[in-house]
Amino acid sequence: MTIELAVIGGTGLYNFPGLQNVEKRTLDTPYGAPSDAVTLGDINGKRVAFLARHASGHSIPPHRINYRANVWALHSLGATRIVGVNAVGGIREDMGPRTLIVPDQLIDYTHGRYTSFCDADGAKVEHVDMTEPYRPVLRAALLAAAKRAGIAVIDGGCHGITQGPRLETAAEVQRLRRDGCDLVGMTSMPEAALARELQIDYACLAMVANWAAGCGGQAEIKEPEVFEHLKHTAAQLPAIVSAMLA
Ligand code: HPA
Repeated sequence: MTIELAVIGGTGLYNFPGLQNVEKRTLDTPYGAPSDAVTLGDINGKRVAFLARHASGHSIPPHRINYRANVWALHSLGATRIVGVNAVGGIREDMGPRTLIVPDQLIDYTHGRYTSFCDADGAKVEHVDMTEPYRPVLRAALLAAAKRAGIAVIDGGCHGITQGPRLETAAEVQRLRRDGCDLVGMTSMPEAALARELQIDYACLAMVANWAAGCGGQAEIKEPEVFEHLKHTAAQLPAIVSAMLA
């Protein structure tokens, strides 16, 4: 059965409630094992694949995720559309905790990650176009679905992706803001670029877990609050995906 949509869950999203006919697939890839078994299940009679990016117990930090194995595994199941869900810090004034955002741009500040499938000796070298890092057609589908589900989502924003796993300093966030970033996360790259190399439509649904360092008048970022915000926001995702597949 065709996979209509794949979802890669980030911090705060380790499973996908409400799936029917659930099946778990433990896969291997030429790049090693993905973060976790892929869960397959139906929503509205359509097949969905779900993968927890950090593994189900959140045991894999952002810089140690095998992004290539994750994207390859979903590709090998036939997925042609991936929504990457990311916990982020909000920088822009209207992007406080619990805001949902479908960003339209990104700046990659990560380093030392495997960023491409073209790095075997003799492999074809490809320079994929990343002018629009998130596929407009999939972004539009996400936004329309959220609207149908009655869930407020901000359309657009520039996603800065840092190395982690530590959070940023206030000065680093000021630099991100000067660079034009509106939100900051740790995992949308190289995921978006790898999906592009495999011609998979990819979009990001960002859940604001906290004000980014030095924003929103807070002195520090407190982890329990982060998880409370994520728990609240993650509960809205099944309704958005269900509306996407209605
Ligand atoms: N910075 C980077 N990544 C994040 C943050 C943050 O403040 N919050 C959740 N993921």
